[in-house]
Amino acid sequence: MLLIVSGGIAAYKSLELIRLLRARDIAVDCVLTRSGAQFVTPLSLQALSGTPVHGELFSLTEESEMGHIALSRSADLIVVCPASADLLARMAAGLADDLATTLLLATDTAVLVAPAMNVRMWEHPATRANLAVLRARGIHMVGPEEGAMACNEFGRGRLAEPAAILEAILSMLASGRPLAGRRALVTAGPTHEPIDAVRYLANRSSGKQGYAIASCLAEQGADVTLVSGPVALDAPAGVRRIMVETAVDMQLACEAALPADVAVLAAAVGDWRTREVLSGKLKKQAGSPPPELALVANPDILAGLSAPGPRRPRLVIGFAAETDDIVARATAKRLRKGCDWIVGNDVSAGTGIMGGDENRIHLIDEAGVEDWPRMTKHEVARRLVERIARLLGGETRP
Ligand code: CTP
Repeated sequence: MLLIVSGGIAAYKSLELIRLLRARDIAVDCVLTRSGAQFVTPLSLQALSGTPVHGELFSLTEESEMGHIALSRSADLIVVCPASADLLARMAAGLADDLATTLLLATDTAVLVAPAMNVRMWEHPATRANLAVLRARGIHMVGPEEGAMACNEFGRGRLAEPAAILEAILSMLASGRPLAGRRALVTAGPTHEPIDAVRYLANRSSGKQGYAIASCLAEQGADVTLVSGPVALDAPAGVRRIMVETAVDMQLACEAALPADVAVLAAAVGDWRTREVLSGKLKKQAGSPPPELALVANPDILAGLSAPGPRRPRLVIGFAAETDDIVARATAKRLRKGCDWIVGNDVSAGTGIMGGDENRIHLIDEAGVEDWPRMTKHEVARRLVERIARLLGGETRP
């Protein structure tokens, strides 16, 4: 995303917006206008976005790396926040007298503006006329809101809250995609069930399959919450990731993520936890036998989510990691847990599937079993999400 920050006291809120966008792993390139730089520094924008800030139209170093035309075309969306009365006027007039206006004139990308100005400037016929011109050109707008202003006046002109701007951005990024407006919950990775202060029970799940599914769901426009056990993977772009350790924490995070249209539970949840967790480290006692661990059952998140009720997602998909009789066991597991589809796969040591980059799955639903050939986990995710999109409405983009 390209974020243009123009001049105005509300410019400081663009910093919070960048933070929210980065939390969704949305890449943000910033352009700071000369008057914007009176209110926030390039250093603040750069520290939060993690990329150098563009300021000058004719910068030799910038032009040698990425020219302003390329910059205007490289983003999926251009957001102007805050958009001052002056910048809106220059946009409406088609001026190109600095980097921001040149980019806005050179782009064929969707543009969202978040105006912020004094109430009298907002109500001035010149601003009204400029806004009408911009709206007619298909420019999207969020806010402004009514409220107390920095200049001690009250009225409309206050920048929309960063959370509302984020929502507008997410819905624009998702628009036209088949899962736009759908909420998805994905679990991935192992759980760690502590024994004492330093030890835990775990399994070999890498989280790769669940992360690939979360990523493909987001690409198709879904609003995705990924509840992840401890893994060494980066959060996929555009996905809200919640890191957890134990099965109990995973269950709580899943419940908090509801309602959802679809839930894909790919996590390898530990079936048991220790009855008690020692606060210190369990010590060896010379001459004593090794300690015995007393275990209790963990909650079954998949069975809980699949149970009928108002909060049940419309489509619940479970995974069945098996080592023998895969299809028969997975079929029985689907019925036992009450989910709609189950993805059965062979995780025997020789297959290299658990922790590897490939998977060979059997997709089982009420109608029967489909055997998919061995393919990458990303390809499995892409095809599975294609199926989900077909069921929840619309076709996936090629
Ligand atoms: N699952 C879950 N919560 C648990 C255990 C499993 O949500 N406490 C989910 C997994 O995410 C997966 C499915 O249930 O989608 C299959 O889990 P699995 O552990 O393979 O099934 P079990 O019922 O534990 O059967 P078994 O261990 O006997 O194979």
